[in-house]
Amino acid sequence: MAILIKTDAQIAKMRTSGVTLRKVHDAVKAVVRPGATTMDLERAAVATVKELGVKAAFLGYHGYPAVLCTSVNHEVIHGIPSENHVLREGDVVSVDCGVIVDGYYSDCAVTHAVGKISAKAEKLLRVTEASLYAAIEKAVVGGRLFDISNAVQTVCEAEGYGVVREFVGHGIGKSMHEDPQVPNYGDAGKGPRLKAGMVLAIEPMINLGSAEVKVLEDGWTAITVDGSVSAHFEHTVAITKAGPVILTL
Ligand code: MF3
Ligand code: CO
Repeated sequence: MAILIKTDAQIAKMRTSGVTLRKVHDAVKAVVRPGATTMDLERAAVATVKELGVKAAFLGYHGYPAVLCTSVNHEVIHGIPSENHVLREGDVVSVDCGVIVDGYYSDCAVTHAVGKISAKAEKLLRVTEASLYAAIEKAVVGGRLFDISNAVQTVCEAEGYGVVREFVGHGIGKSMHEDPQVPNYGDAGKGPRLKAGMVLAIEPMINLGSAEVKVLEDGWTAITVDGSVSAHFEHTVAITKAGPVILTL
């Protein structure tokens, strides 16, 4: 499949979608504290999506049962919100959400600290987010796709972190997942040429320990095999002649 090019008008719609998604993330963030359950986060998202009159992108996607993915500590991605999962001081929780506005998807994830977290976890969050921004800087016309991938890998492996291979970022538009796949590892200077109008969801998934992950029996939750803490940050980014534009800010 070819990488779809969006017009300026389409990118404007995707920005509207991204700005809307940010409101959902803000509402969820306000609920994150020790003692809250991951279902409390889900309820905040559900209420906000309803209030804004938009459609949640994940709910029902391949049968996924919630609006959010909430992945705590050694859970990497696709954790399912639960009434039984109480957040504790020192936890980290990745909140991943997507919405559809006027037919256009946006996708964004952030990993929050719950109360005070360890210095190691704090650094993992800081470096993972920095790797996302380093990758976004490479989302420029004339560059190559794996420049983006390599930026994540370089920043994170310099700290000895495990870069998850099994899950990748993706093109996004009128579908949540379009071509190309956007791995978080690869050789700079390789991959498809980046063009104005491409829109990518860039999403480093980075483990404090080994890169190895496995999926639990629920068919969704991906965890680190060694039990180490994992972080996930994601933005939907448009490549334009004027440079990268983060649509989910
Ligand atoms: N942000 C994830 C992705 O890009 C979440 C989608 S998985 C879902 O693939 F099933 F929960 F929707
Ligand atoms: Co995504």
